[in-house]
Amino acid sequence: MSHAEETEGSRRDFLYVATGAAGVVATGAVVWPLINQMNPSADVQALSSIQVDVSGVEPGTQLTVKWLGKPVFIRHRTEEEIAAARDVALADLPDANARNANIASDAPATDEDRALDENGEWLVMMGVCTHLGCVPLGDAGDFGGWFCPCHGSHYDTAGRIRKGPAPENLPVPVATFVSDGVIQLG
Ligand code: FES
Repeated sequence: MSHAEETEGSRRDFLYVATGAAGVVATGAVVWPLINQMNPSADVQALSSIQVDVSGVEPGTQLTVKWLGKPVFIRHRTEEEIAAARDVALADLPDANARNANIASDAPATDEDRALDENGEWLVMMGVCTHLGCVPLGDAGDFGGWFCPCHGSHYDTAGRIRKGPAPENLPVPVATFVSDGVIQLG
């Protein structure tokens, strides 16, 4: 990435933070309701599957899609991101639950339990901070994962909360690969 692009990226991030902070103070516009977000009724769920083409998502980048009215982060992780996530001791995690709708609710928050595929290349999560519902920024924070600028919550490269007021890991929704390069949500 050139210096010019880096500068542009930083400026965009800064504007996002500034806008987000103003929204919270003025109207709460950037806050996504947490109520029932992971628990839609059966009829809503039946209508709510979407398929996402991720074949163009390069390692080290992510796609944000809107699903059930919420942002979902689909990240193609680098080997470094995977290694960093798998290197963390579970005892260091404030939230020990994997928060993965695909597996038992009391599963530990290992990276293997949160990643979509066995190799851990793909991570799919609701892009909604578990503190008060802001949308965290990617490639940010003290743990190289996501950072929520509203009140300073830091998530690691597996989307697990590591520092700040958010009580839980970013939730992992029901997701599967339905064919090469296509992920189905719901
Ligand atoms: S909403 Fe994310 S830290 Fe408060």
